[in-house]
This record gives sequence, structure tokens and C-alpha cells, in this order.
Amino acid sequence: MQDLVVNTEDDPHKGQPATEPSTIELAEIILNVQDLQIGFGSKVVIEEVNLDLRKGSIVSLIGPTGSGKTTFLRSINRMNDKVSGFWTKGHITISGKEVLSPDIDLLELRRNVGMLFQRANPFPMSIRENILSGVKAHKLAKKSSHDDIVRDSLEKVGLWKAVEKRLSDSPFRLSGGQQQLLCLARSLAVQPRVLLLDEPTSALDPISVEAVENLISKLVPEITFIVVTHSLAQAKRISNHTMFFYDGKLMESGPTSKIFEDPEMPETQYYVSGRMG
Ligand SMILES: Nc1ncnc2c1ncn2[C@@H]1O[C@H](COP(=O)(O)OP(=O)(O)OP(=O)(O)O)[C@@H](O)[C@H]1O
Ligand SMILES: [Mg+2]
Repeated sequence: MQDLVVNTEDDPHKGQPATEPSTIELAEIILNVQDLQIGFGSKVVIEEVNLDLRKGSIVSLIGPTGSGKTTFLRSINRMNDKVSGFWTKGHITISGKEVLSPDIDLLELRRNVGMLFQRANPFPMSIRENILSGVKAHKLAKKSSHDDIVRDSLEKVGLWKAVEKRLSDSPFRLSGGQQQLLCLARSLAVQPRVLLLDEPTSALDPISVEAVENLISKLVPEITFIVVTHSLAQAKRISNHTMFFYDGKLMESGPTSKIFEDPEMPETQYYVSGRMG
């Protein structure tokens, strides 16, 4: 079992770690991955992935392009299912429930495990309906509380002021950063327990990046985050645990401070020193 420590170095909220280390160490294991192997047809894309993740962690997934980060992330809420030739071996459990089981309720899984992609993907409906889409699909709330859910979700991501008078407008007129925040608000509206973020800030300007990073640190421990990033600085800033993927293998995984300052593997050392793409 791996220890999770909060890395407060480089933390923009220095002195105010999002979650106390002792809290994380005592928290329940929310995600367990055992001997996970994933492939497409005859090709093995990732193998030897093992992980115990405690509630309230912020995990960054780093590694060179093509190393398997997205494939791994998407397998946690079964987004690869429809890709032709996709197969898995091993186990992924969330709060003890086997994610890879054919019997799992996918709608329920994706309510608990939300996902945000590199490019914002608002639905072609109003800003308000975007926020309510999951709430309605899962019948999570009475109609009378919909206004409050819209407002709360948008306030959480800091968008309320900007959009309160245009809730019926299309989301596509919002800026790229605002669209990504809207998608985050839409994910939050169904109260997920885990959020998977695949390079969520790579298309954003520095101010929006900061807004998303601040938000992530405010939303733990209720939400546990797994964030793929090509920004080593971002991984250091936001995560308390780092997984380094290399050539389809989880080469090294541990507290962020350890992975960046004292890694075990030469490949990790090479990558975190910025000498590998
Ligand atoms: N549908 C597929 N069929 C065959 N191979 C695939 C498929 N999808 C992904 N792969 C391969 O799996 C490997 C891992 O891809 P993945 O997208 O997970 O990498 P990544 O680490 O997210 O890369 P990047 O940093 O560029 O986003 C790559 O070699 C990729 O070509
Ligand atoms: Mg990727």
C-alpha cells in the first residue's frame, strides 16, 4: 500500500494544504487497481499497473506521449468499451466495486466517476441545460431545486457572475476557458466521487489554468482527482501523488515530492528533469 503525502512545496496556497496528510492517510481506499493490462487487438498498450488510491488524493499522471496515460484514465470509467479490439485483464475497483465487470451499471459508474477532456465539450443546448443534463438523466433532484443546482455548480467554478444573465444562451459563445469551466460545473452537478481529467488545462490561458487548479484543490477531499498532465510544474503544484507511465508501464508511482526529487528509476529521473518529451 502506498503512502500519500501532501506536497506543499510549490503550492500556490502555501501553508494551507488542501487536505492534511494525516487525513489522507486515514481515508478509505477509493480506487484500487490490480495487475491491470489493456490492449487493442494483439497490441498490449499498458501492463503492470497497480495502485491504491485514498479518498481526497490528487494524482497526476505523467509520461511521454503514447505511454498509455489516456488509455488508463479512460478505462477507469469504461470509456474505451466501444473502441474496436479493446480488452482488459486485471481489476479496477472503486469503493470495492469491480469496474471491469460486465454487470456494472455504466450510468451509475459515470455518475460517480466523471471525466473532463482536453478540449471543452459543451453539449449543444443552453448553458443551464448543460448543467442540468446529468442531474436530469440520473433523476437526482426535483425540478424545484434545479435553479439552485445551476447556481451552485456555476458558483463553484467561478462562472456564475459571467453567465447568470445568459443561462438560456448557447455555451459556444463562451471563451475556451469558460467552456472548460462550464464542463467542470456540469461534472460537479451530479456530485461525483472521482474526477478524471485528461490534460484539462492544456488549451487554456494562464489565468484559466490557475482558476482550474485552485478549484481542484478546493474540491478535495469530497472529490478525488486523477489528472493527466504534460506540465511537470502543474503536477508538482497540484498533486500529492504522481504516477509515471513509460512505454505502457507504470514505471514508478509515489508521493509527488519523492517522484520529482528522489525517483527510484533512471527513466523517471530523466523525465522529471525535463530531458524527455
Ligand atoms: N484504438 C486504438 N487501437 C490501437 N492502439 C491504440 C488505440 N488507442 C490508443 N492506442 C495506442 O496506445 C498507446 C497509448 O496511447 P495513449 O493515448 O493512452 O497515450 P498517452 O500517454 O495518453 O499519450 P499523449 O500524451 O500523446 O496523450 C499509443 O501507442 C496509441 O497509439
Ligand atoms: Mg493522452
